[in-house]
Amino acid sequence: MHAIAAIDIHKSYRRGATVTPVLTGVDFRVEPGESVFLVGPSGSGKSTLLSILGCLLTADSGRLEIFGQDVNRLTARSRSELRLRKIGFVFQRFNLIQGLTAIDNVAVPLRLCGWSAGRAWRRAAELLDAVGLADQARARPGCMSAGQCQRVAIARSLVLQPELILADEPTASLDADSGQEVMALFRSLIRQQGVTAVVVTHDPRIFVYADRVCEMADGQVRSREQPSESGGR
Ligand SMILES: Nc1ncnc2c1ncn2[C@@H]1O[C@H](COP(=O)(O)OP(=O)(O)OP(=O)(O)O)[C@@H](O)[C@H]1O
Ligand SMILES: [Mg+2]
Repeated sequence: MHAIAAIDIHKSYRRGATVTPVLTGVDFRVEPGESVFLVGPSGSGKSTLLSILGCLLTADSGRLEIFGQDVNRLTARSRSELRLRKIGFVFQRFNLIQGLTAIDNVAVPLRLCGWSAGRAWRRAAELLDAVGLADQARARPGCMSAGQCQRVAIARSLVLQPELILADEPTASLDADSGQEVMALFRSLIRQQGVTAVVVTHDPRIFVYADRVCEMADGQVRSREQPSESGGR
């Protein structure tokens, strides 16, 4: 069984009479436990593909299996369950809730799953500690640096121990050093939990953390290079 099997995925955006084809037959498979990086020019459809893989957006056609489940056959409710329980997201622009403190942001998925406030706080505190932000638990996103917000978003994505992480440019707003640091941390948390990951990035300096790098071009995904022996394992 693949963690992700996306077969012949097509997606176009329509604005009035204008149709923009973005994905034109994507075939993309990811093994359980694998970390695959996705690169490609701006506008090539990386975020679109990630949203489809995460069941946030529906493809026009094609087949998508997540851990063997045929996503198109699920009811809307089961799809939401799959998304909440098995998939962790790190969004391109963090998507933190501005009015909530760091710890409350991390606790959001737990509360959605019905955890009590106390239990959710204890778990969220563990994750904040793991990303080195124990001292920022009460800070709100507006008072934190981009790197700190990025780490809160990573903590939130991992808080429910998802089987799949989808991260859209998790180091985009960081300088080189903090980018490396955040990625090393993300990678070690992913490894500890045996998580499968798809990471969109423009940053070749973090390729060392990938098992495999794929490229989006002309609406399709191609393998870009074979995993190297020193691929960060
Ligand atoms: N909601 C939308 N409605 C219409 N067009 C869209 C929409 N979202 C994206 N697009 C278009 O689809 C194409 C792919 O966008 P997407 O965001 O997937 O690219 P990307 O590879 O993630 O780019 P970047 O590297 O800049 O984040 C672009 O041409 C974009 O303008
Ligand atoms: Mg994008």
